[in-house]
Amino acid sequence: MNILRAGVIGWPIEHSKSPLMHGYWLKKLGVRGEYVKIAAAPDAFEARVRELARDGWRGLNVTIPHKEAALRLADEASETALAIGAANTLVFQSDGKIHADNTDGFGFTENLIDRAGATWRRDQPAAIYGAGGAARAIIHALVGAGAAEVRLLNRTRSRAEDLANVFGPKVKTIEWGDDATALSGAGLIVNTTSLGMVGQPPLEIDFSIAPSHAVATDIVYTPLETPFLRDAARVGLAIVDGLGMLIHQGRPGFEAWFGKRPSADAALRELLLNS
Ligand code: ATR
Repeated sequence: MNILRAGVIGWPIEHSKSPLMHGYWLKKLGVRGEYVKIAAAPDAFEARVRELARDGWRGLNVTIPHKEAALRLADEASETALAIGAANTLVFQSDGKIHADNTDGFGFTENLIDRAGATWRRDQPAAIYGAGGAARAIIHALVGAGAAEVRLLNRTRSRAEDLANVFGPKVKTIEWGDDATALSGAGLIVNTTSLGMVGQPPLEIDFSIAPSHAVATDIVYTPLETPFLRDAARVGLAIVDGLGMLIHQGRPGFEAWFGKRPSADAALRELLLNS
């Protein structure tokens, strides 16, 4: 049997941890396959994807800045990818069609279930900081998971309002800085901004108003414990770091391309942390 091929395509792509992760799963699950980084500038993206599909590759993960273009070029798409308006996973089907999915929201909720499943009260309001692409995927997943209310805060309020309009009345915008309103009665508090990443200023929130059972989670995972998570832990909240979201978002693609179901085990976390 031929070797099964997949990869991650982006611009730039050097720093992607996905090859390490998929390589770990390929080895662990005994799949004869490979998963590589593919650099493609925006003007070369579509042609490169179609070339790989023609060459018999199984599919691709898609990262910045190509996620919207990936959805546009696909022949068919999941309801999730359509709702988010972007795709991070392409599957090249045996009938020649390209299928698009978005697994970022799945990765987010799976990570929460994995690391705080018993604590996370999914029917209670969620407070989301940031209104970029990641926030959009997360809000879609939270509404799907049964959140009654999503409170959205963004430095640029108009972006929060645009997102709220996409998802309807369950999503309410709150003034950036009004943590008291955002966190009152909240079951989940999420940083989707780039604040707290190595080299960036921290996201500083007054967690004191949050219920003691609330879970705080960050999509930033460099560093693993961001100032946001550290401050939340200091007042006794359960915290979930962002590394698991990276791991879980990769699982559906792996299964579609390579036919085996991978898991988020401790050794993989260690490998990614030490890379
Ligand atoms: P992505 O699509 O990957 O989520 P993005 O669109 O660049 O990334 O969004 C980054 C988020 O971080 C935005 O919500 C951004 O707020 P603005 O919409 O106001 O730009 C937020 N962000 C980045 N730097 C910030 C800062 N210094 N203070 C507050 N928010 C910041």
